[in-house]
Amino acid sequence: MLSIDPLVEPPNVRLSLPGSKSITNRALVVAGLANGESSLSGVLFSEDTHVMMDSLQKMGVKIRQNSNDQSVSIIGTGGRLQRPAETIWVHQSGTTARFCLPLAALCGQEVTIDGDQQIRNRPHEGLCKALESLGAQIEYLEVANSFPLVVNGKNLKGGQITLNGSISSQFISALLLAAPCFPDQLELNIEGDLVSRPYIDMTISVMQAFGAQAERVTDRRYVISPTGYQNSRYEIEPDASAASYFFAAAAISGGSVTVEGIGNQSIQGDTGFVGIIEKMGAKVTRLDHALSVTGTGSLAGIDVSMKEISDTVPTLAAIAPLASGSTAISDVAFIAKKESDRVTALITELRKIGVKAEKTETGMIIYPGEIQKGTIHTYDDHRIAMAFSILGLVVPGITLDSPQCVAKTFPSFFDVLDQLRVAGDAKLSILAIDGPAGSGKSTLAKQVAKQLGLEYLDTGAMYRSVAAVALAQSASLDDETGIAEIAGRINIQFTNGKVYVDDDDLTEAIRSPEVNAAVSKVAANPGVRSIMRRQQRSWARVRGGGVLEGRDIGSVVFPEAQLKVYVTATPEERARRRSLESGRSVEDIMEEILQRDTKDSTRDDSPLVADQEAVVIDTTGKTIQETSDYIEELFLQ
Ligand code: DC
Repeated sequence: MLSIDPLVEPPNVRLSLPGSKSITNRALVVAGLANGESSLSGVLFSEDTHVMMDSLQKMGVKIRQNSNDQSVSIIGTGGRLQRPAETIWVHQSGTTARFCLPLAALCGQEVTIDGDQQIRNRPHEGLCKALESLGAQIEYLEVANSFPLVVNGKNLKGGQITLNGSISSQFISALLLAAPCFPDQLELNIEGDLVSRPYIDMTISVMQAFGAQAERVTDRRYVISPTGYQNSRYEIEPDASAASYFFAAAAISGGSVTVEGIGNQSIQGDTGFVGIIEKMGAKVTRLDHALSVTGTGSLAGIDVSMKEISDTVPTLAAIAPLASGSTAISDVAFIAKKESDRVTALITELRKIGVKAEKTETGMIIYPGEIQKGTIHTYDDHRIAMAFSILGLVVPGITLDSPQCVAKTFPSFFDVLDQLRVAGDAKLSILAIDGPAGSGKSTLAKQVAKQLGLEYLDTGAMYRSVAAVALAQSASLDDETGIAEIAGRINIQFTNGKVYVDDDDLTEAIRSPEVNAAVSKVAANPGVRSIMRRQQRSWARVRGGGVLEGRDIGSVVFPEAQLKVYVTATPEERARRRSLESGRSVEDIMEEILQRDTKDSTRDDSPLVADQEAVVIDTTGKTIQETSDYIEELFLQ
């Protein structure tokens, strides 16, 4: 569960967003098929792209990831993919499922592909039939034209095929991507209605960047020569579908959002979303490599075909009830077959919060009106979760029942969303306290909070709570996703100096030696940190501020805190204090403290260092009251 905090100030931000999922997965495939080593920058690291990387690795592509600078190096196979030793498991990734079908055929031997139920339910018939007509054999293990299936491409040739364009443009992209490595030329004709055409242009653009001869004879006829691919250095644009949420946020809040790296030169059709909100009344500025949206305070309804930019339908649908007139979205019946049945999901959830919304022949119509608070079911669909989060920025009381699904394409979504709140957060009365283990920071923080009439939050206790629950459930601390899921699931409450997790009193348990030993690892888990930070910000926002103690409060959680202090003391003094509390020997504790200091100060995410703006206070030889009075004075200055 995650309740979305409304904005208290309109945002005014420039955002750097993660790389495009669609381009990342195309570039990975093409680089994996190329001759030699390629390097990709601006890569998106999310569930869907990890699944693609895993699948390619299973087929012999060598990939070195560097998530610190969002890049990967890839040693391509020159089109000679290997038969994987095990089933290719595509989880929930639609692009991986579709792109891997022709890739599996390139392996020239039997390859089994399967995925989660969501994928088993999604259609693949057109693509399977096309591959069969190109000479591949496909055996369906459960249901015809569906996963799980076994592909054998030993007789795969090129040739001429006709595909229906009305189900998914991914079928067409999948064939195009593999085609330069087919034995013969591929001539692909598209019949029927063509949905999401910009994605085909994107595919061709990525292919050409790696030397393919992909000719668009007409909109409905493509000829791909069997040239293979050449290695390349390729820069991936930020994700335009992801940007739509922040543009929508600007439009409904009267704020201003600029997204860098996508503009007039973009190869992503979803940049067209800004054209829709522009027609509704927002001001849009388009540069070659940046797009800005500013809300004008008025938003009209619109009647719009979203056939070409259907991934942004949830974004528009979620903000539509705020417009002055009705909004009709058409030509998107096919989105019933995305991660969820998006037409039904959007209408159901809008109605749940009091909005009048109806299904139409090819889409939906949404009427303006009073919006009530409510809990949105996300259907495990990242786009439903992200779209309603935007509505929650201006409508109080919007809660998501399972927010973790954003990780499919945008693991840092809620952190970026918080950047819209920076202006509002700067107005909170925040005192951030940090310092090494045993520096007396907890005792001090409680004392200062009392003196200032603010509440106190022990953020370390939050990480400890996650560690305690993980240990109680015998979860492996190495399973980063599993531990982050625990963090997202549990409800941590602080009442009368006690810590409750889902109503169990864990005040003592979180100080056990086992938790002491486990907590550093839990606190170094980026997924856990992202969830905890969100909860910490939310805690302070509902209180108008507070005293927060912990590692990253002044640097990441509230960089605009009113005051940041870093309390420290010599290791000897810290060990002496802990020994007085616990009765254990000073030497034992010294050892522990030095180990903790090293661990905490050398980890990647939020290592223990004094924030540049923090006032450093050495408490050696000082009483709590002396230090607390000093901090109070600084805070009130
Ligand atoms: O302060 P403490 O010992 O209760 O903190 C427990 C662990 O959590 C310790 O490894 C530091 C870490 N922590 C953190 O990484 N970020 C915070 N905001 C608070 C604590």
